[in-house]
Amino acid sequence: MKIDIELLKKFEQTLDTVHPERGKIPIEILGYGEISLVFSIKGQNIAYKRIPIFDDEIQVKRHIWAYNMYNQLLQKIGLILPEYDVAFFKDKQGKIQFYCIQEMIAVESVGNIIIHNISVEEVKLLVLLALREMKKVWDFNLQSKTFEIALDGQISNFAVLNYDSQNSTIEENTKLQYLDTSTPLFRVNGKEAMEPELLLKSAPSFLRWLLKTLFLQDTVDRYYDFRRVIIDLIANFYKEQLPHLIPSLIDLANQFLQEEASEHKLSPIEGGEIYEYYKSDANMWDIFQRVRKLDRWIHTKILRKKYPFYLPADIQR
Ligand SMILES: Nc1ncnc2c1ncn2[C@@H]1O[C@H](COP(=O)(O)OP(=O)(O)OP(=O)(O)O)[C@@H](O)[C@H]1O
Ligand SMILES: [Mg+2]
Repeated sequence: MKIDIELLKKFEQTLDTVHPERGKIPIEILGYGEISLVFSIKGQNIAYKRIPIFDDEIQVKRHIWAYNMYNQLLQKIGLILPEYDVAFFKDKQGKIQFYCIQEMIAVESVGNIIIHNISVEEVKLLVLLALREMKKVWDFNLQSKTFEIALDGQISNFAVLNYDSQNSTIEENTKLQYLDTSTPLFRVNGKEAMEPELLLKSAPSFLRWLLKTLFLQDTVDRYYDFRRVIIDLIANFYKEQLPHLIPSLIDLANQFLQEEASEHKLSPIEGGEIYEYYKSDANMWDIFQRVRKLDRWIHTKILRKKYPFYLPADIQR
């Protein structure tokens, strides 16, 4: 992909992390997760995921290795990814700025938008198609002696390939793309390829040890666990304000586990598990966002320094 690093440098120089749309380089926010800001620069067809967590080049180079390897592994086992690349540079203050880059795909083709615009039957089919993509990962894990791959199966991480917003039906042969490759979680001979502590870099340093003790291992582990990734996918329908779909999605997932994924020997999912999971997960991210807001306030109002991260507005959970 052709990346204009000078433009990115200019963007960093004038970036206002509280109001990223107000910088000198006009951008459009495409989405944000709990950690990264995803945006496009007007006039380009590129999605930039800004991840400002690296201290030095050794760290960023290891991460780029893991990122490329993760993308390649996913493609090898049959997932469809948008074209991808990375860029990093040192800004004027000598801080490393890192971006995961992807070809931009239509916003309305992303799963968490689509589910609000299609019938219940189609939502179920979309979730089934996502489960089939996920199964490719765990089929691979079952037979690989070297690698173990994790995946974040939330519906916002899948997009419908060649989506036509005028004629938008989900069918058996609809193809999904997987978007969320910026956290390359995989293990080589049991060893984590990326530094998982990086996930905590956007938390204030005085609380990192606490978050690490409380949540980190469990948060990382759950992305390796097929059953928990399915629970996460379904529980997310609470956040998407579609809780009434959850019972039928549980039935769908259990039928899938029995008929299409029996070799994984996973026990059926129960409604109570989804709710409990949703509550504890919402809680964890909520605590995380609150301490980050406090940290931002200290940075900007007390220390009068630039706060490096963009924090999404309050997320309805
Ligand atoms: N290539 C892309 N083109 C258009 N929009 C995208 C693209 N990639 C991501 N997005 C939008 O940004 C959202 C977040 O992206 P993604 O899932 O990759 O990161 P994330 O969830 O923020 O990851 P993390 O939480 O690990 O930081 C997506 O749900 C989607 O709406
Ligand atoms: Mg995501």
